[in-house]
Amino acid sequence: MLFKVKEYLFYLLRCLQSSKIKNKNFSFFKTKVLLQKIDISEINKIRNFYKYSNEKIKIEDYGAGSKTIKKQDFIKSKDLYLKVAISKKYGEILYKLIDFFEIESVLELGTSLGLSAVYMANAKVTTIEGNSDLANKTAKYLKQFDYNSINVINSQFDLILNDLLKKNDYQLIFIDGNHTEKASIDYFESCLKYSKENIIIVFDDIYWSKGMKNAWKYIKQAKEVKLSIDLFKFGIVYICNENIEKEDVTLWY
Ligand SMILES: C[S@@+](CC[C@H](N)C(=O)[O-])C[C@H]1O[C@@H](n2cnc3c(N)ncnc32)[C@H](O)[C@@H]1O
Repeated sequence: MLFKVKEYLFYLLRCLQSSKIKNKNFSFFKTKVLLQKIDISEINKIRNFYKYSNEKIKIEDYGAGSKTIKKQDFIKSKDLYLKVAISKKYGEILYKLIDFFEIESVLELGTSLGLSAVYMANAKVTTIEGNSDLANKTAKYLKQFDYNSINVINSQFDLILNDLLKKNDYQLIFIDGNHTEKASIDYFESCLKYSKENIIIVFDDIYWSKGMKNAWKYIKQAKEVKLSIDLFKFGIVYICNENIEKEDVTLWY
Protein backbone atom coordinates (compact mmCIF):
# COMPACT_ATOMS: atom_id res chain seq x y z
CA MET A 1 0.00 0.00 0.00
CA LEU A 2 2.78 2.38 1.04
CA PHE A 3 4.64 1.50 -2.15
CA LYS A 4 1.64 2.48 -4.28
CA VAL A 5 1.12 5.76 -2.42
CA LYS A 6 4.78 6.68 -2.92
CA GLU A 7 4.62 5.77 -6.60
CA TYR A 8 1.44 7.82 -7.01
CA LEU A 9 3.21 10.88 -5.60
CA PHE A 10 6.07 10.34 -8.08
CA TYR A 11 3.47 10.01 -10.85
CA LEU A 12 1.90 13.34 -9.84
CA LEU A 13 5.32 14.97 -9.89
CA ARG A 14 6.03 13.61 -13.38
CA CYS A 15 2.66 14.95 -14.54
CA LEU A 16 3.46 18.38 -13.11
CA GLN A 17 6.82 18.43 -14.90
CA SER A 18 5.33 17.53 -18.27
CA SER A 19 2.10 15.93 -19.43
CA LYS A 20 2.53 16.36 -23.16
CA ILE A 21 3.11 14.15 -26.19
CA LYS A 22 5.81 15.76 -28.36
CA ASN A 23 5.47 13.63 -31.50
CA LYS A 24 2.55 15.12 -33.48
CA ASN A 25 1.74 11.68 -34.92
CA PHE A 26 0.79 10.56 -31.45
CA SER A 27 -1.00 13.63 -30.13
CA PHE A 28 -4.36 12.07 -31.05
CA PHE A 29 -3.95 9.93 -27.97
CA LYS A 30 -4.70 12.87 -25.74
CA THR A 31 -7.42 14.52 -27.80
CA LYS A 32 -9.19 11.46 -29.16
CA VAL A 33 -8.65 8.89 -26.47
CA LEU A 34 -8.17 10.58 -23.10
CA LEU A 35 -10.20 13.76 -23.48
CA GLN A 36 -12.95 12.68 -25.88
CA LYS A 37 -16.39 12.54 -24.20
CA ILE A 38 -18.51 9.49 -24.99
CA ASP A 39 -21.84 8.08 -23.90
CA ILE A 40 -21.71 4.35 -23.33
CA SER A 41 -24.32 4.20 -20.61
CA GLU A 42 -25.74 0.96 -22.04
CA ILE A 43 -22.84 -0.81 -20.30
CA ASN A 44 -24.48 0.16 -17.00
CA LYS A 45 -27.07 -2.58 -17.59
CA ILE A 46 -24.56 -5.37 -17.04
CA ARG A 47 -22.80 -3.33 -14.34
CA ASN A 48 -26.09 -3.02 -12.43
CA PHE A 49 -26.77 -6.72 -12.87
CA TYR A 50 -23.40 -7.58 -11.29
CA LYS A 51 -23.86 -5.03 -8.51
CA TYR A 52 -26.79 -7.02 -7.14
CA SER A 53 -25.91 -10.58 -8.16
CA ASN A 54 -25.68 -13.06 -5.29
CA GLU A 55 -24.55 -15.95 -7.50
CA LYS A 56 -21.60 -17.68 -5.87
CA ILE A 57 -18.38 -18.27 -7.76
CA LYS A 58 -15.73 -20.75 -6.68
CA ILE A 59 -12.39 -19.07 -6.00
CA GLU A 60 -9.22 -20.40 -7.57
CA ASP A 61 -6.01 -18.46 -7.12
CA TYR A 62 -3.80 -17.82 -10.13
CA GLY A 63 -0.53 -16.07 -10.70
CA ALA A 64 0.07 -13.19 -8.35
CA GLY A 65 -3.32 -13.69 -6.67
CA SER A 66 -5.33 -10.79 -5.36
CA LYS A 67 -4.55 -8.30 -2.61
CA THR A 68 -8.26 -7.67 -1.98
CA ILE A 69 -9.89 -11.12 -2.04
CA LYS A 70 -9.57 -12.97 1.25
CA LYS A 71 -8.80 -16.68 1.25
CA GLN A 72 -12.23 -18.35 1.06
CA ASP A 73 -13.97 -20.94 -1.07
CA PHE A 74 -16.66 -18.88 -2.77
CA ILE A 75 -17.33 -15.25 -3.56
CA LYS A 76 -20.58 -13.61 -4.61
CA SER A 77 -20.57 -11.99 -8.06
CA LYS A 78 -21.44 -8.63 -6.50
CA ASP A 79 -18.39 -8.78 -4.22
CA LEU A 80 -16.09 -9.84 -7.05
CA TYR A 81 -17.51 -6.99 -9.13
CA LEU A 82 -16.66 -4.47 -6.40
CA LYS A 83 -13.15 -5.85 -5.95
CA VAL A 84 -11.81 -6.47 -9.42
CA ALA A 85 -14.06 -5.17 -12.20
CA ILE A 86 -12.62 -2.37 -14.28
CA SER A 87 -13.80 1.14 -13.38
CA LYS A 88 -15.86 3.20 -15.84
CA LYS A 89 -12.97 5.64 -16.20
CA TYR A 90 -10.50 3.03 -17.43
CA GLY A 91 -13.10 0.99 -19.30
CA GLU A 92 -13.73 4.10 -21.40
CA ILE A 93 -10.09 4.19 -22.47
CA LEU A 94 -10.38 0.64 -23.81
CA TYR A 95 -13.61 1.55 -25.61
CA LYS A 96 -12.04 4.64 -27.19
CA LEU A 97 -8.88 2.79 -28.27
CA ILE A 98 -11.03 0.23 -30.11
CA ASP A 99 -13.08 3.00 -31.65
CA PHE A 100 -10.24 5.32 -32.68
CA PHE A 101 -7.98 2.63 -34.18
CA GLU A 102 -10.95 0.75 -35.67
CA ILE A 103 -9.64 -2.36 -33.98
CA GLU A 104 -11.23 -5.60 -35.10
CA SER A 105 -9.49 -8.21 -32.99
CA VAL A 106 -8.54 -8.16 -29.31
CA LEU A 107 -6.90 -10.59 -26.93
CA GLU A 108 -7.41 -10.19 -23.20
CA LEU A 109 -5.56 -12.02 -20.44
CA GLY A 110 -7.80 -11.99 -17.35
CA THR A 111 -11.56 -12.09 -17.92
CA SER A 112 -13.00 -12.22 -14.41
CA LEU A 113 -16.63 -11.07 -14.87
CA GLY A 114 -15.93 -9.86 -18.39
CA LEU A 115 -16.43 -6.15 -17.71
CA SER A 116 -13.29 -4.94 -19.49
CA ALA A 117 -14.16 -7.24 -22.39
CA VAL A 118 -17.56 -5.56 -22.59
CA TYR A 119 -15.86 -2.17 -23.14
CA MET A 120 -13.96 -3.69 -26.08
CA ALA A 121 -16.92 -5.62 -27.51
CA ASN A 122 -17.14 -3.52 -30.69
CA ALA A 123 -14.20 -5.70 -31.74
CA LYS A 124 -14.00 -9.49 -31.66
CA VAL A 125 -12.64 -10.25 -28.19
CA THR A 126 -10.93 -13.46 -27.11
CA THR A 127 -10.53 -13.42 -23.36
CA ILE A 128 -8.76 -15.98 -21.17
CA GLU A 129 -9.75 -16.95 -17.63
CA GLY A 130 -8.08 -19.70 -15.58
CA ASN A 131 -10.86 -20.11 -13.02
CA SER A 132 -13.25 -22.58 -14.63
CA ASP A 133 -16.34 -21.71 -12.58
CA LEU A 134 -15.78 -18.00 -13.22
CA ALA A 135 -15.12 -18.56 -16.93
CA ASN A 136 -18.31 -20.60 -17.35
CA LYS A 137 -20.51 -18.20 -15.40
CA THR A 138 -19.08 -15.13 -17.13
CA ALA A 139 -19.66 -16.70 -20.55
CA LYS A 140 -23.28 -17.32 -19.49
CA TYR A 141 -23.78 -13.73 -18.24
CA LEU A 142 -22.24 -12.21 -21.39
CA LYS A 143 -24.55 -14.30 -23.58
CA GLN A 144 -27.52 -13.22 -21.47
CA PHE A 145 -26.63 -9.58 -22.25
CA ASP A 146 -26.04 -10.31 -25.96
CA TYR A 147 -22.29 -9.69 -25.95
CA ASN A 148 -21.83 -12.23 -28.71
CA SER A 149 -18.49 -10.85 -29.95
CA ILE A 150 -16.76 -11.99 -26.74
CA ASN A 151 -15.34 -15.49 -26.56
CA VAL A 152 -14.31 -16.65 -23.08
CA ILE A 153 -11.65 -19.36 -23.06
CA ASN A 154 -11.00 -21.29 -19.86
CA SER A 155 -7.25 -21.85 -19.65
CA GLN A 156 -4.16 -20.76 -17.83
CA PHE A 157 -2.46 -18.00 -19.82
CA ASP A 158 0.84 -19.86 -20.22
CA LEU A 159 -0.81 -22.89 -21.78
CA ILE A 160 -2.51 -21.06 -24.62
CA LEU A 161 -0.95 -17.64 -25.21
CA ASN A 162 1.70 -18.51 -27.79
CA ASP A 163 -0.68 -20.69 -29.78
CA LEU A 164 -3.29 -17.95 -29.95
CA LEU A 165 -0.71 -15.35 -30.95
CA LYS A 166 0.67 -17.60 -33.70
CA LYS A 167 -2.76 -18.29 -35.18
CA ASN A 168 -4.35 -14.83 -34.94
CA ASP A 169 -3.63 -11.20 -35.71
CA TYR A 170 -4.59 -9.29 -32.61
CA GLN A 171 -4.39 -5.53 -32.92
CA LEU A 172 -4.85 -4.84 -29.22
CA ILE A 173 -3.84 -6.97 -26.26
CA PHE A 174 -5.02 -6.19 -22.74
CA ILE A 175 -2.98 -7.83 -19.98
CA ASP A 176 -4.93 -7.85 -16.74
CA GLY A 177 -3.94 -10.90 -14.73
CA ASN A 178 -0.97 -12.59 -13.09
CA HIS A 179 0.68 -9.32 -12.12
CA THR A 180 4.22 -10.56 -11.51
CA GLU A 181 7.39 -9.15 -13.03
CA LYS A 182 8.37 -12.37 -14.78
CA ALA A 183 4.92 -13.18 -16.15
CA SER A 184 4.39 -9.63 -17.45
CA ILE A 185 7.75 -9.65 -19.23
CA ASP A 186 7.15 -13.15 -20.64
CA TYR A 187 3.71 -12.18 -22.00
CA PHE A 188 5.19 -9.03 -23.52
CA GLU A 189 8.01 -10.97 -25.19
CA SER A 190 5.52 -13.46 -26.62
CA CYS A 191 3.44 -10.62 -28.06
CA LEU A 192 6.57 -9.12 -29.63
CA LYS A 193 7.68 -12.44 -31.05
CA TYR A 194 4.43 -13.55 -32.64
CA SER A 195 2.54 -10.40 -33.55
CA LYS A 196 2.66 -9.65 -37.22
CA GLU A 197 1.28 -6.12 -37.35
CA ASN A 198 1.51 -2.92 -35.37
CA ILE A 199 -0.10 -3.54 -32.02
CA ILE A 200 -1.18 -1.77 -28.89
CA ILE A 201 -0.63 -3.50 -25.57
CA VAL A 202 -2.34 -2.22 -22.44
CA PHE A 203 -0.95 -3.38 -19.11
CA ASP A 204 -3.09 -2.99 -16.02
CA ASP A 205 -1.67 -2.09 -12.61
CA ILE A 206 1.86 -1.13 -13.62
CA TYR A 207 2.57 0.15 -10.09
CA TRP A 208 0.86 -2.72 -8.26
CA SER A 209 4.22 -3.86 -6.85
CA LYS A 210 7.97 -3.31 -7.26
CA GLY A 211 8.00 -6.26 -9.66
CA MET A 212 5.32 -4.69 -11.85
CA LYS A 213 7.21 -1.41 -11.86
CA ASN A 214 10.35 -3.25 -12.99
CA ALA A 215 8.38 -5.04 -15.70
CA TRP A 216 7.01 -1.69 -16.97
CA LYS A 217 10.54 -0.27 -17.07
CA TYR A 218 11.72 -3.27 -19.09
CA ILE A 219 8.78 -3.10 -21.50
CA LYS A 220 9.20 0.64 -22.22
CA GLN A 221 12.83 0.30 -23.24
CA ALA A 222 12.21 -2.32 -25.96
CA LYS A 223 13.23 -0.89 -29.35
CA GLU A 224 9.93 -1.99 -30.93
CA VAL A 225 7.99 0.20 -28.48
CA LYS A 226 7.62 3.57 -30.22
CA LEU A 227 5.29 5.18 -27.71
CA SER A 228 4.83 4.33 -24.03
CA ILE A 229 2.18 6.08 -21.98
CA ASP A 230 2.10 5.97 -18.21
CA LEU A 231 -1.36 6.67 -16.77
CA PHE A 232 -0.35 5.24 -13.37
CA LYS A 233 -2.99 2.49 -13.47
CA PHE A 234 -2.58 1.64 -17.15
CA GLY A 235 0.66 1.44 -19.07
CA ILE A 236 0.00 1.59 -22.79
CA VAL A 237 2.56 0.77 -25.47
CA TYR A 238 2.36 1.21 -29.21
CA ILE A 239 4.54 -1.26 -31.07
CA CYS A 240 5.55 -0.91 -34.67
CA ASN A 241 8.52 -1.49 -36.95
CA GLU A 242 8.40 1.94 -38.56
CA ASN A 243 11.40 4.17 -38.17
CA ILE A 244 9.98 6.74 -35.76
CA GLU A 245 11.59 8.23 -32.73
CA LYS A 246 10.72 6.58 -29.42
CA GLU A 247 8.70 8.59 -26.95
CA ASP A 248 7.89 7.87 -23.30
CA VAL A 249 5.28 10.06 -21.62
CA THR A 250 3.40 10.32 -18.38
CA LEU A 251 -0.09 11.73 -18.82
CA TRP A 252 -2.51 12.96 -16.23
CA TYR A 253 -5.75 11.01 -16.27
C1 LIG B 1 -8.02 -8.49 -12.32
S1 LIG B 1 -8.94 -9.85 -12.87
C2 LIG B 1 -9.50 -9.33 -14.46
C3 LIG B 1 -10.49 -8.21 -14.42
C4 LIG B 1 -11.14 -7.93 -15.76
N1 LIG B 1 -10.18 -7.76 -16.82
C5 LIG B 1 -11.96 -6.65 -15.66
O1 LIG B 1 -11.37 -5.58 -15.69
O2 LIG B 1 -13.18 -6.72 -15.50
C6 LIG B 1 -7.72 -11.02 -13.29
C7 LIG B 1 -8.26 -12.41 -13.65
O3 LIG B 1 -7.20 -13.14 -14.25
C8 LIG B 1 -7.27 -14.50 -13.82
N2 LIG B 1 -5.88 -15.02 -13.86
C9 LIG B 1 -4.82 -14.56 -13.16
N3 LIG B 1 -3.70 -15.25 -13.47
C10 LIG B 1 -4.07 -16.16 -14.41
C11 LIG B 1 -3.35 -17.15 -15.15
N4 LIG B 1 -2.04 -17.34 -14.97
N5 LIG B 1 -4.04 -17.90 -16.04
C12 LIG B 1 -5.38 -17.71 -16.21
N6 LIG B 1 -6.12 -16.79 -15.54
C13 LIG B 1 -5.47 -16.03 -14.66
C14 LIG B 1 -7.83 -14.44 -12.41
O4 LIG B 1 -8.51 -15.65 -12.11
C15 LIG B 1 -8.76 -13.22 -12.49
O5 LIG B 1 -10.09 -13.60 -12.70
